[in-house]
Amino acid sequence: MIKPETIDKIFDAARIDEVVGDFVNLKKRGVNMLGLCPFHNEKTPSFTVSPAKGIFKCFGCGKGGNAVNFVMEHEHFSYPEALKYLADKYGIEVEEEKPSAEQQEVLDEKESLFNLTAFAQKHFEHTLHETEEGRAIGLTYFKERGFTTESIKKFGLGYSLNSWDDFTSKALKNGYKKELLEKSSLSRSRDHQLYDAFRARVTFPIHNLSGRVLGFGARILTQDKKKPKYINTGESEIYHKSKVLYGLFFAKSAITKADNCYLTEGYTDVISMHQAGIENVIATSGTSLTTDQIKLIRRYTQNVTLLFDGDAAGIKAAFRGVDMILEEGMNVKIVLFPEGEDPDSYARNYRPAEVQAFVEENAHDFIGFKTNLLLEETQNDPIKKAKLIKEVALSISRIPDAIARSLYVKKSSGLLQVEEKLLMAEVNKQRWEKAKGQRHQPQPDEEQSWEKPEETLSDTQLKTGITLDHQERELIRVLLEYHDKQLVFSQENEDGHTEEYSVKVSDFILDDLMDDELSFENHLCQAIFDEMRQARDEGRELNNQYFFNHHDPQISKMVINMLTTPYTLSFQWEEKHQIYVTREDEQLQKNIMEILYAFKLKKLEKIIYENKEKLKEEKEEEGVMELMKNVREMESIKTMLARELSRIVTQ
Ligand code: CTP
Ligand code: MN
Repeated sequence: MIKPETIDKIFDAARIDEVVGDFVNLKKRGVNMLGLCPFHNEKTPSFTVSPAKGIFKCFGCGKGGNAVNFVMEHEHFSYPEALKYLADKYGIEVEEEKPSAEQQEVLDEKESLFNLTAFAQKHFEHTLHETEEGRAIGLTYFKERGFTTESIKKFGLGYSLNSWDDFTSKALKNGYKKELLEKSSLSRSRDHQLYDAFRARVTFPIHNLSGRVLGFGARILTQDKKKPKYINTGESEIYHKSKVLYGLFFAKSAITKADNCYLTEGYTDVISMHQAGIENVIATSGTSLTTDQIKLIRRYTQNVTLLFDGDAAGIKAAFRGVDMILEEGMNVKIVLFPEGEDPDSYARNYRPAEVQAFVEENAHDFIGFKTNLLLEETQNDPIKKAKLIKEVALSISRIPDAIARSLYVKKSSGLLQVEEKLLMAEVNKQRWEKAKGQRHQPQPDEEQSWEKPEETLSDTQLKTGITLDHQERELIRVLLEYHDKQLVFSQENEDGHTEEYSVKVSDFILDDLMDDELSFENHLCQAIFDEMRQARDEGRELNNQYFFNHHDPQISKMVINMLTTPYTLSFQWEEKHQIYVTREDEQLQKNIMEILYAFKLKKLEKIIYENKEKLKEEKEEEGVMELMKNVREMESIKTMLARELSRIVTQ
C-alpha cells in the first residue's frame, strides 16, 4: 500500500506531455500537444494532450485520462504498478504504508494459503517420484502420455495417493491449522473429519504470474464414469478460477517475443505443445473463457490464436471465444484440429516441425473461420446464407474500433458476396441490439465514447429493469462543470412581492438530492457526490482539476471523459481565454432543472416498477394494500414531475 503522500508527490511530478511523450510523438499546437493516438489506428492526429490540465484525450476513439490513467492503459499496468513506474521515472522514493490490523489479517491469511499450497505442491511431487504407488501409477501414466521427465519437473506435476487423508494428516503434522486446510479446499470435512480433496489423481499445479502455486487441477486415472475426470481447487482467497490462465507463468516471455498467444482448452495441451517447441501457449482450466482472462493476455500481446478441437463442442467454444476477444479490441485467429484430435494428441502424433507448420498454416481469421465452416453446409440455400451473414456481422459488431469494423465489413462482403452496405447495416443493427441490452446493467469500468446512447423508455426496458446510468452521469457532469455558477430564482414572499435569490449550482444540486434522500446506483457517481458534499461541509471547494488528479483512477478517467468535449480542449477556446460559450451555458438554469427532473423521474419509475414486481409476489392482503398505496402515491408524484419537466423543456 503506497502512502497517500507519495501518491501526491507522484501526481505533482508527473507531467502529462513527458509521460505520453515517451510513447507518442507529440507536436505543439497552440497550448496543447497533438499526436497519433496509440489506442486506435489513425492517420490524422486527433490525440490531444493538455499540459495545463494534465490530461490527454483522443477525439477519435474517446479515450481520455491523466498521466496515471495513460500508463495504466498503455502499459496494461495495475494502479500500483503505474504509480511505481512514474515514481521511478521522476526519481521519487516510494514509501509504503504499514497495512492496518484488518488488512494485515487478510494478508496473513493469503500468505498462509500460499504457504500451504506450496507445501501441497511439494507433497504431491514427492509422492509422484518417491513413493511406490506414485511411481507405479502416476509416473507411469505421465510417461505413457509422452511427457518427458523434464516437462514433469518443469510443470511441477504430482500424484495424490489412493488414501483418505495422506495429505491432510501430513499438513496437520506440519503445523497447518484445520481451518486453513478447509479454506484452501485441499481438504474437505464431513462430520468434523477432514479428508483429502484429491485421492488417486495426478496433479497439475496452477501458478500465478510470479510462479507461486495457487491451486491444482487433478485428473482421475481410472475409467470411472461416475467420477469427474478433473477436480479443480475450489475458489479461495488466492485462487479465482475465472482470473487465472494455466501456463501463463511459463509462457509469458514467449508470448511477448512471438507477439501472439496460443489459447488451448486444457492442461495436457499446454504441456504437449511446450514439448513440441511451442511455448507461447496457455489454457483456460475448466472454465469457459472470461473477460478477466482476456485482459490478462492483453498485458502481453494483442493477438490470440485459439487452438480448439474440431468437434461440435470445440467449435461452439471457439465461436464464443472469438466474439469475446474481438470485444476487447484484440485480434483473433482460430486453428481447428482435425476431428478427434486436440493440440495435445496432435503434438504427440506428429513431430515438432509438423505441429508448428500445422498451426501456422491453419490459422484463419474469424471471418475465414466462420465463412469456411458455414459455407460448406450453406451451399446455395438462401436461408442458410442469411444466417451465415448474420453470424459474421455479429462478430464484426463486437469490434470496438470503427475503422477496424469497416475494414472487416469490406473484406467479408467480398468473401460472402453480399453488398457492403447491407452487411454494414446488419453490423450496426447488432451493435444497437447489444447496446440496448447493456444499458440495463451498471458499467463498473469507464469506457465512454462520444456518442451518448439515446435514452428511450420502451416497454421492454421497463420489463427488464430500468437503468439510471445516463441520467446519473448527466447530473454529475453538470454538477462538476457548473458547480460555481449561480442560479437565480424568483419567489413570491408574504406581502406579494417577488424576491430574487441566487444559489450556487453545487449547493442547489447537493441540497436538492439530500432533501429527497436520493442516491446513485453508479458507485463512481455516488463517490463523487459524497466527496463534493463532504468538502462543502468542511468549507472546502473542489474544482475539476482536483478530480482530474483524483487518486482513484476510475474517478479521474470518468470525470475527464465527462468534461472534455472537442470544444473545451480546442485551441481557439484555450487561446481566446474561455470566450467560447456553449449553448448549454446560456440556458444553464433550464438545463440543470431538466437534468435533475429527468433523473428524479427515472428514479421514481424504477421504484414504481420494483413495487409492482413486489406486488406480484405479495400474498398477504395487508401487504398488497400497502404496496398499492405506495404505487398510487408515487404515480401521482410522477405525474407532477413529468408535467414540471415538460414545462421546463417547452418553456
Ligand atoms: N476439464 C475440467 N473438468 C472436467 C473435464 C475437463 O476441468 N471434468 C478441463 C481441464 O482443464 C482439461 C480441459 O478441461 O484439461 C480439457 O478437457 P479434456 O479435453 O477432457 O481433458 P484433457 O486435459 O485433454 O485430458 P485427457 O487428454 O487426459 O483426456
Ligand atoms: Mn485430451
